[in-house]
Amino acid sequence: MIYFDNAATSWPKPPGVAEAMLRFLNQVGANPGRSGHRLSIEAGRIVYQTREALAELFNVGDPLRIVFGSNATEALNLALRGYLRPGDHVITSSMEHNSVMRPLRALARPSAGRQAIALTVVPCSPQGFLDPADLEAAIRPETAMIVLNHASNVCGSLLPVREAGAIARRHGCLLLVDAAQTAGAYPLDVKADQIDLLAFTGHKALGGPMGTGGLAIGERVEIERLEPLKQGGTGSLSERQEQPDFVPDKYESGTANGVGLAGLGAGVRWVLDQGVQAIRRYEVGLTRRLIEGLANIPGVTVYGGLDAARQTATVAFNFAGLLPSDVGLRLDEEYDIMCRVGLHCAPAAHETLGTFPQGAVRLSLGALNTAAEVDTAVQAVAKLI
Ligand SMILES: Cc1ncc(COP(=O)(O)O)c(C=O)c1O
Repeated sequence: MIYFDNAATSWPKPPGVAEAMLRFLNQVGANPGRSGHRLSIEAGRIVYQTREALAELFNVGDPLRIVFGSNATEALNLALRGYLRPGDHVITSSMEHNSVMRPLRALARPSAGRQAIALTVVPCSPQGFLDPADLEAAIRPETAMIVLNHASNVCGSLLPVREAGAIARRHGCLLLVDAAQTAGAYPLDVKADQIDLLAFTGHKALGGPMGTGGLAIGERVEIERLEPLKQGGTGSLSERQEQPDFVPDKYESGTANGVGLAGLGAGVRWVLDQGVQAIRRYEVGLTRRLIEGLANIPGVTVYGGLDAARQTATVAFNFAGLLPSDVGLRLDEEYDIMCRVGLHCAPAAHETLGTFPQGAVRLSLGALNTAAEVDTAVQAVAKLI
């Protein structure tokens, strides 16, 4: 069986992830950061080590500015709903996932007694790329935030995050990056890239389990302005009825996903041990092989820039006359290849690529896939067609 659905969730997980989760369940088990006994302290230590590993991977100075939540969607909602105020202007791209588009569309809709935010969606090219000049041209005096996908979950195209960081600095607004598709697969440095808010998910290239993710909050973001999505128990300042006003407790109410964060820590440490540059190089090789193999099949259209250096290991294609859903079903049933078809929760991206409403077939690779698997999949697609 070949698993090419890593852009949805990576699988299998790196060595050590399941073991770290089992160890937490069987030998630690207690509530992190709540009680003073040794098991609780050990649980808190494991959660903190995961924060440290992520801070190292993203070059975040203070691990406490990594705030955990259940996935990238929650982190993006925290950044958008927590930071934006009525009347703010936000710029995003036409390649965004619905986890950015839907909260922004909701905030841009005036409701009774509440002024909306203003939203500009900058169009990307039909290959899924964004021209930084178009981004800068959309800036207004009241622009509070630029929100960008680091890489498309549909065709893998990389967006110009570093240039966007420089634009945000020049114009005094924040840059929020949705790194769901790149965290763990592509080098990310919040300082060099001038990223103010970085939303990541644990269950994709970071190698962790579902139910993990978070937001890295840069030094330019005022904690006083960023409101939490929820309030509740934090284990700190228990004598107070008001929410703590410091990181990470302001944003982390309720018992943490200790088992999940133990697994995420092991996943991130695996990424750090391999080296994200080495993972990237390996995936570029696989991606190049896959793009070339698919593009050489007569009648197949591969979407994106057809350049592995400008995208992640996610490749989308179609064959005229065949429905993506039929291709996906037959790849699964007849060839044991797992992929994802349709619109991938990103209708705007598919409109940009010209694949709306039918969608496309998406093969997404990970660091644990092999060149032999790529060759088998290309042969399967050729035979099927
Ligand atoms: C680009 C992008 N953003 C956000 C998300 C949401 O991630 P999660 O499901 O972890 O909330 C995904 C998930 O596929 C994604 O691909």
